[in-house]
Amino acid sequence: MQNEKVTVKSDMFEKLMSIYSLSIEEINKIIKEMEVKYKELNLIDHVKYRIKSPKSIINKMKKKKYALNYSQMIEKINDIAGIRIICPFQENVYIVRDLLINNPKIRVLDEKDYIKNPKKSGYTSLHLIVEVPVETELGKVYVKAEIQIRTMAMDFWASLEHELKYKNNNVTKTASKKLLKAAKVMKKLDYEMSLLANEVR
Ligand code: GTP
Ligand code: MG
Repeated sequence: MQNEKVTVKSDMFEKLMSIYSLSIEEINKIIKEMEVKYKELNLIDHVKYRIKSPKSIINKMKKKKYALNYSQMIEKINDIAGIRIICPFQENVYIVRDLLINNPKIRVLDEKDYIKNPKKSGYTSLHLIVEVPVETELGKVYVKAEIQIRTMAMDFWASLEHELKYKNNNVTKTASKKLLKAAKVMKKLDYEMSLLANEVR
């Protein structure tokens, strides 16, 4: 069954996607509880989530030269379920991260701190690859998800950078440099706002 070829319009594909949706629901529940518990801290501005489109899943598998079967899809594609948590301040990012990794329901498989170590593009964010338990008709299974935690400024930069790169397949070297420069401004803004918040509080 799991070695079946990945085909978008199959029952297997639909079934798997509905299980990934349940993992998003589970993580959303955990986030909601966290927001209620730490209401006065105002940790999170908003949360976005998405299931990766069938086309993107298959394109990614082809690009990475994985065999196009379900077991490879489940094993290798970590961001089929994606959750993005957008926080007002950088310190909130780390508080949210700590609360998530200490939540007994969440198993952390991997963590990448692109705030401490930004990507060459200038991209910053904190990424967790996690697993959460989900009840299916076959019983409890652990389902993977990618959680990206970032500030509003980081999200602003990443969204516009993605928009520019996505719509213009080959952005020039000059444009890349300008994006990197804008990333520095974004970083500075987060820093200034943090200082200000600490002063005001
Ligand atoms: P891939 O998902 O195959 O790239 O795996 P990976 O292990 O390289 O993941 P990585 O942590 O690099 O990136 C995962 C996600 O982070 C991407 O799907 C994007 O949502 C986001 N991301 C990474 N780099 C960039 C970037 O340079 N610009 C923007 N806008 N987003 C990025
Ligand atoms: Mg990548």
